[in-house]
Amino acid sequence: MNVATVEINEVAPRDGFQIEAAFVPTQEKIRLIDALSRTGVARIEATSFTSPRAIPNLHDAEAVMNTIERLPGVGYVALVPNEKGAERALACRADELNLVLSASDSHGLANLRMTAAQSLEGFANIVSLTRGSDVFVNAAISTAFGCPFEGSVSTLRVLTLVERLLALGIQGVSLCDTTGVADPRQVAERCEAVLSRWPWLPLTLHFHDTRGMGLANALAAWQSGVTRFDAALGGLGGCPYAPGASGNICSEDLVHLFARMGVDTGVDLERLIDASKTLPGLIGHETPGQVVKAGPADRRYPQPAGVGR
Ligand code: COA
Ligand code: ZN
Repeated sequence: MNVATVEINEVAPRDGFQIEAAFVPTQEKIRLIDALSRTGVARIEATSFTSPRAIPNLHDAEAVMNTIERLPGVGYVALVPNEKGAERALACRADELNLVLSASDSHGLANLRMTAAQSLEGFANIVSLTRGSDVFVNAAISTAFGCPFEGSVSTLRVLTLVERLLALGIQGVSLCDTTGVADPRQVAERCEAVLSRWPWLPLTLHFHDTRGMGLANALAAWQSGVTRFDAALGGLGGCPYAPGASGNICSEDLVHLFARMGVDTGVDLERLIDASKTLPGLIGHETPGQVVKAGPADRRYPQPAGVGR
């Protein structure tokens, strides 16, 4: 199944900034999120409500969430690891909580100090906190395609976790390839396994391009019927508690890919590229994104002088 419309969830303000060596000043984060709100992305993962000891770069989560401009039609998402994070995010009027757990307990313990079972216990309480509100509750399964400590993670493990999450009343699920180990065949199999069982599920795929397979994996997911993708401006990103982690698939490269194929993302590529050009000034280094350097594929150059036809 190929679908003509996809939604982009922009995660650079969270997945991107969390791993940078430099702290991006709060005002600069807000300015970037406000620019991203005008690009046409469906959602922006604006920050995370994590322990400031675990993720010091996002210790300003309240200031960011309370100051950004909220544009209608854009969902403002916050990543949340536990009940305390959920209370903080709800107090700041997040539209969506993205609850994070790990498919592999060794990564869960390194990243969250929790096994998947312990995360699920906390999620049950978080769901009750949101009952009666219109906050969307998503859960992101880290290491859903493989773990840097344990290696392979089975499809059965992922399906069991999805089943438990849905039984708790969680509304959407993301499968995250935290360290870029997935390959397109595995992605197709896993997406089809989930979507054949829960065809109505808002399923998001979250890829890192650690081994150059990110866009191929996104394409494989789309060909399997997935319509929701996380991506980070400039290709920033990475989990500080996953050895060898590197950037997410790059938003402008993904939007460009879909645009070339006639798939509507609703995103204005030029605006996204303009926003991406501001990143090196914020983080102090070049970004891995390709289209921001090469320009879109329909870019044309003047012929060199003196070359006749
Ligand atoms: N926000 C702010 N502070 C929090 C918090 C939250 N969501 N959760 C816990 N804390 C504080 C507690 O209040 C306590 O503070 P104190 O020492 O001043 O009393 C301290 O952190 C320890 O609390 P505890 O519940 O024992 O947490 P922990 O040290 O076991 O850490 C997490 C668990 C989940 C909070 C932490 O590992 C974390 O934030 N991980 C996020 C990792 C991440 O975002 N990775 C990348 C994205 S996948
Ligand atoms: Zn990630």
